Amino acid sequence: MNSKIVKTTISLTLVLVPAFFWQSVFSGQDEIKFVGAGKCKICHNKAEDGAQFDIWSKANHSNAFEVLGTPEAKETAKKMGIEDAQKSPKCLKCHSTVYNWTEQPVKNIEMKKDGSPRLTVEEGVSCESCHWAGSLYSPKKIMEDYEASVKAGMNQNPQESCVKCHNEESPGWNKEKYTLADGTKVGFDFAQAWEKIKHPNPKLVPIKAARKAADKK
Ligand code: HEC
Ligand code: HEC
Ligand code: HEC
Ligand code: HEC
Repeated sequence: MNSKIVKTTISLTLVLVPAFFWQSVFSGQDEIKFVGAGKCKICHNKAEDGAQFDIWSKANHSNAFEVLGTPEAKETAKKMGIEDAQKSPKCLKCHSTVYNWTEQPVKNIEMKKDGSPRLTVEEGVSCESCHWAGSLYSPKKIMEDYEASVKAGMNQNPQESCVKCHNEESPGWNKEKYTLADGTKVGFDFAQAWEKIKHPNPKLVPIKAARKAADKK
């Protein structure tokens, strides 16, 4: 390549890349897309790192769409005047990441090369309900840098997502489901519920402890 072309290429890259990055990060949430659990699985399913995908796919959340097809769901829906729970936004808002707590499916879903969406309602309550839409934080370089991941839209407090669904708006809400140490009954208790769905990465334990200590200072 002659040096003029190289120079032009470099300066174009310097102008275009930051402009694009700036735009996609700061022009609002709409630029960030949902990528579905399949993409997270590429990097988060190694046994030595905690196999997050396998754990999720065997627990209730990945089944949250199917459960809307059971006789029990049909009965609940019927009482509420809903014909098909698997098609009703009133149920899907908490049973599918695609609805993301609204009564409209989200539009910002990344597409595969064949034009089909990477996130589907069948996936139920997927990674991105708690960790938030991942198109900007899931690239390897960003993921390896915690601060950068948070800047690119990763939820710093996924613990806080639970009660957006586990609350009394849920038709099956049982306000005495969990018993606290002092005997009080509550509908949801993070510590006990988390034990049933936790998916830690053993390698992150010291890193997360250091982060917590730094936060307290
Ligand atoms: C290209 C590989 C890759 C993809 C794809 C990916 N991740 Fe990661 N992720 C990593 C790496 C590397 C880390 C750093 C820690 C580690 O080694 O596990 C990480 C860390 C994380 C962490 C821990 C952050 C912390 O330190 O507290 C979460 C949560 C996470 N990823 C969620 C996701 C979700 C959700 C998706 C899909 C939307 C996803 N990741 C996609 C590679 C990836
Ligand atoms: C506010 C969020 C929310 C809405 C709206 C919602 N659900 Fe659920 N649903 C949940 C949660 C959370 C659970 C898990 C409950 C538990 O076991 O603590 C659940 C569990 C269920 C179950 C599994 C059985 C059970 O009770 O554990 C069925 C069936 C069900 N929901 C049907 C429906 C139907 C039908 C609709 C629509 C009419 C609906 N849900 C709307 C949050 C919701
Ligand atoms: C987007 C909505 C949503 C969010 C966010 C959510 N859940 Fe759930 N959760 C559900 C639904 C729906 C079910 C029922 C699925 C089924 O029965 O197949 C469920 C079921 C469960 C169950 C099994 C039923 C039970 O109570 O034993 C546990 C445990 C649970 N969730 C824990 C959590 C925790 C912990 C968090 C936060 C880190 C969380 N959930 C966040 C919707 C949600
Ligand atoms: C119901 C909410 C919920 C869902 C669904 C969920 N996660 Fe998480 N995840 C959490 C919470 C909460 C934490 C942090 C727990 C903590 O800090 O103690 C976490 C932590 C992680 C971590 C860091 C591990 C560590 O040691 O803290 C990774 C990586 C991760 N999740 C990946 C995934 C992937 C991949 C999926 C989907 C296949 C997924 N998660 C689905 C709530 C969820």
